[in-house]
Order: sequence, then C-alpha cells, then structure tokens
Amino acid sequence: MDHSTIPRSRFVVTEALLSQLDVVTDIALSSLAVFDPAWDWRFPNRLIHPSEHRLLTRQKFHNFIADKNSKWRVFIAQETATGATPSKTVGFAVWDVSNMQSRTAALKTDRQDRQTARRSPDLVLDSTAKPPTSPHHEKDGHPQRLAAWAETTSKARRELFDEAFGNRYFSLQILAVDPQFFRQGVATLLCNWGIKMAKLKNMSIALFASPQGRLFYPTLGFEAISTVEVQASNDEAIQLIAMAYDSRSRISAQTTRENMSLPTQQH
Ligand SMILES: CC(C)(COP(=O)(O)OP(=O)(O)OC[C@H]1O[C@@H](n2cnc3c(N)ncnc32)[C@H](O)[C@@H]1OP(=O)(O)O)[C@@H](O)C(=O)NCCC(=O)NCCS
Repeated sequence: MDHSTIPRSRFVVTEALLSQLDVVTDIALSSLAVFDPAWDWRFPNRLIHPSEHRLLTRQKFHNFIADKNSKWRVFIAQETATGATPSKTVGFAVWDVSNMQSRTAALKTDRQDRQTARRSPDLVLDSTAKPPTSPHHEKDGHPQRLAAWAETTSKARRELFDEAFGNRYFSLQILAVDPQFFRQGVATLLCNWGIKMAKLKNMSIALFASPQGRLFYPTLGFEAISTVEVQASNDEAIQLIAMAYDSRSRISAQTTRENMSLPTQQH
C-alpha cells in the first residue's frame, strides 16, 4: 500500500498534562454542562455560582490528571496545527483504569515476578500517595442528588459491571468534545485508545451514557445493559444507560462471523 496517499489525521490524541487543566475545564463546562442532563441535575445552581462551579470542576480534573499513574488516565484530542494556526484542544476522555492496573500487577505476580510488580510505579497502586480529595459542591451542586448519584452509580457498578465482568473491565468515566467539533470523529478517536486496550488485555469497557452518548457509543460496538435511575428522596429522577463494550463477546462474534464466511470447499 502506498502510505503517502493516506491523509494524516486532523486530530491527535495524547495523555493530558496539568498544564492543559484549564482547557480541559473549559471543554467540560461548554460541553457536559450544556449537553449532558446529568450535569445540570447534579449542579443546578452552577449558573448562580459560576466561579465556584469552575473552581470545583477544575479541582476535579486536577485530581484526575495528577493521578494518572494509579486510578485515572486522562487523554486529550488536539486539532493538529496548520500553518499559522496553533494546535487546539477539542476533547478529552477520563478513564478509570484501576482494574487494569490490578490485573496487570496480578498477572505479573502470577508469573512470579513479584519484585518487579512491587517496584514498578506504573503497575501497582501507590499506597503512600495521598488520596485526592473530592470537591464539595455546596453552593453550585445539589447535595442530596450528589449523594444519591455516588451511592447509585457505585451500587450499579457492583451489580451490573462487577457481576458481568469481575475485574476484567475498566470504565470510561467522562467523555466530552468541544461543541464546535461535534460529529467530526473526535470522540471516536478518544475512545479508540480504550478499545485498543480492551482488545489487548482481553477486558471489557463499562460506562454510564448520557442521551448523546447513547447515540454515539453503539457506533463503536457498545451495547446497552440496563437503565439506571438515580433519585434523591421526593425529587426528580434522572436516568442513565449502563453500557458495555464486551471484548470477549466481540472476539467470539467476530470469530463466528469469520468462520461463517469461510468458503465451503466443493469437491
Ligand atoms: C457524545 C459526544 C462525546 C460525541 O462526540 P463526537 O466527537 O461528536 O462523536 P463522533 O464525531 O466521533 O461521532 C461518531 C458517530 O457517533 C454518532 N453520533 C455522535 N453524536 C451523535 C448525536 N448527537 N446524534 C446522533 N448520532 C451521534 C454518529 O453516528 C457519528 O457519526 P457521523 O457523524 O458520521 O454520523 C459529544 O456529543 C459530547 O461531548 N456531548 C456532550 C457530553 C456528553 O454527553 N458526553 C458523553 C457522556 S457519556
């Protein structure tokens, strides 16, 4: 194949740095805060307290980016620079890879490589690291809804994802694209990292989808598992769709398709 004829991608995906914290916060506030009803549901007073909302959102993303070697990994998509136009950050994805880390460490241990696993900082959780503190959205958020959200999503994780996949899955925690760049393949590129890792490590990917995500994820092979309703007492409820990319079923489905498409030999 003549690779010179393949157009270079307009976007590149790299791991986020703390120096990109402000632009990640900007995208969260222009995308999630506007297009994801669950954001509005959890932070209904964000427009009354915009600076507090920005500060706490920034703190949340600081925790994600600074913690990239243990529980979280954050990737950004950038539009590549052309001529005088500098590169521009257009989207990001936050992955919860804690199961990936513990599985990798466990596999190492299985191979009696305990010493290496204990020493290597990117294979095991650092038990000496201070856990990041969760921002308290007292003014901009709805405390009862935030508590119900934390409780219901962690219960759903246990009952749906742990039940189905054990520790053989990791999660896409947050995905957001700058609205000016919707429908240009940015989210697809950001998710490709996870899909590649899922195939490589024979793991599945779990997530709770927003209404827009519900339309997007099936294009990558994710399937809806269940609807999860989150509600604080006597308050309006919000629905999330639990979805998963099951690399095992995709591998077996693909194998079956390949087997079925094998030409039958006629003698
Ligand atoms: C959902 C979201 C991440 C999708 O990002 P994106 O970069 O626009 O997605 P892509 O361009 O990679 O979309 C790939 C395909 O998914 C489908 N898709 C994506 N967004 C869609 C939408 N709003 N409506 C219908 N289909 C959609 C389309 O089939 C699209 O291909 P096409 O444009 O060639 O038809 C983006 O809309 C977003 O950031 N929304 C606000 C935040 C949010 O809801 N995040 C998800 C949290 S779970």
